[in-house]
Amino acid sequence: MYYLGIDLGTSGVKLLLSDEKGSIIKTASRDYPLIFPREGWSEQNPSDWVRGTLSALNEITRGLDRSLIKGIGVAGQMHGLVILDENDEVIRPAILWNDGRTEKEVEYLNFTVGKEKLSEYTANIAFAGFTAPKILWVKNNEPESFKKIRKIMLPKDYINYILTGVHACDYSDASGMLLLDVKNKCWSEEMLGICGITKDVLPSLYESYEVIGKVKEEFGLPEAVVVAGAGDNAAAAVGTGTVGNGKCNISLGTSGTVFISSDSFSVDPMNALHSFCHADGNYHLMGCMLSAASCNKWLAEEILKEKDFALLQKEINEEKLGKNSVYFLPYLMGERSPINDTDARGVFLGMTLDTGREDMVLSVLEGVSFAIRDSFEVAKSSGIGITESFLVGGGAKSPLWRKILANVLGIRLHILKTEQGPGFGAVILAMVGTGLYKSVNEAALKLCTVADTVYPEEGLTALYEERYSKYRKIYPVLKNIFKEK
Ligand code: XUL
Repeated sequence: MYYLGIDLGTSGVKLLLSDEKGSIIKTASRDYPLIFPREGWSEQNPSDWVRGTLSALNEITRGLDRSLIKGIGVAGQMHGLVILDENDEVIRPAILWNDGRTEKEVEYLNFTVGKEKLSEYTANIAFAGFTAPKILWVKNNEPESFKKIRKIMLPKDYINYILTGVHACDYSDASGMLLLDVKNKCWSEEMLGICGITKDVLPSLYESYEVIGKVKEEFGLPEAVVVAGAGDNAAAAVGTGTVGNGKCNISLGTSGTVFISSDSFSVDPMNALHSFCHADGNYHLMGCMLSAASCNKWLAEEILKEKDFALLQKEINEEKLGKNSVYFLPYLMGERSPINDTDARGVFLGMTLDTGREDMVLSVLEGVSFAIRDSFEVAKSSGIGITESFLVGGGAKSPLWRKILANVLGIRLHILKTEQGPGFGAVILAMVGTGLYKSVNEAALKLCTVADTVYPEEGLTALYEERYSKYRKIYPVLKNIFKEK
């Protein structure tokens, strides 16, 4: 039997075909465009997701007895607003998780409705990328589109709908809409009222591993059922064994996240960390920075015109670690955790005439690591001690970046044997949904194996401690300048 995991990411979709033992037999992926209609806006066409997914599905099932595929799980970029009309047609391009257009709506939610009320209703406050502010934005700016809304969905739920015809959402992804009462796992009547929508436009709610339906006949997978799936961070966490209580997973992907699993519901008193449901049926806290590995990709490809990241990093002399006088603020799309500032922008600071491109590249790897540390500090201040974490995502492939991050955070970082990203978590959810395993915890702990651990080094951690304390002073000084339009 086979299990299919689909990771609907921001730069593309990746499919994994796994056997019953969790060995990946085949992968297929397709890229699709990311559209920036204005500075700080970020959109995608759901039709591109569908085209990419179905084309990769065709490739991955070629030459296979398709009846052997038993279950499908989809993990997806979170928070994106997909709206459908009465014919289930997409009304406008999806507004993505890293879109910053909702400044006014966020201000209304956080300061007119009030953070306390939002936290009471949903366990979270408003951030620009969350779904509810986007619904309000459409209401305020595109009233014609708003009137047509009959269904509101998240990106992966749109793929699930295409595959099954069912409108469903799982609790982990629904948590990021600011419409879910996270503690009680139901839609918040108060939030629906605030957004001017009714419950019938929202999908039915499921645990991530619950089956939502069978794959439609036209896709030729006669035995396959689809589970509700998960937001990509929850799925990535499942895929590393970050389940149960007090474990940590860091993802250096397009976004950068710190994900702390918990077996009970809790809220960060400052609401700087998100309080969301987990795909294992429990809860988690999460800090999310909007541009992580994407900062490195941007510097390399857009500015230095070099696609070989390893080559650029080879130029960096390890003697320089902890001593770089160039600093980088990674706010290329504004920032979410913990500063919640859509106006923040990227900054290089501290160059001299002898600064080389290797110093700039190093400053980006360091700046992203410092920004991850910002979320760690929030967790620490609410009494959560983390001494080790899994590390995943494109950035985790770089040994240099691993070393920098381990020393900036002062913790051990575990690298997995075969890191396949959120798609592997989605495979695990499909295995549980089809009865191969009794629980997500059981499956995740059995199938995830650590291959390598990076240890912090005393001297280097101390050097980075100093650099971090200087880094922390930069944003507060620039904050008001970013605000000037
Ligand atoms: C999490 C978040 C991002 C996206 C990336 O809150 O917005 O990590 O899920 O796909």
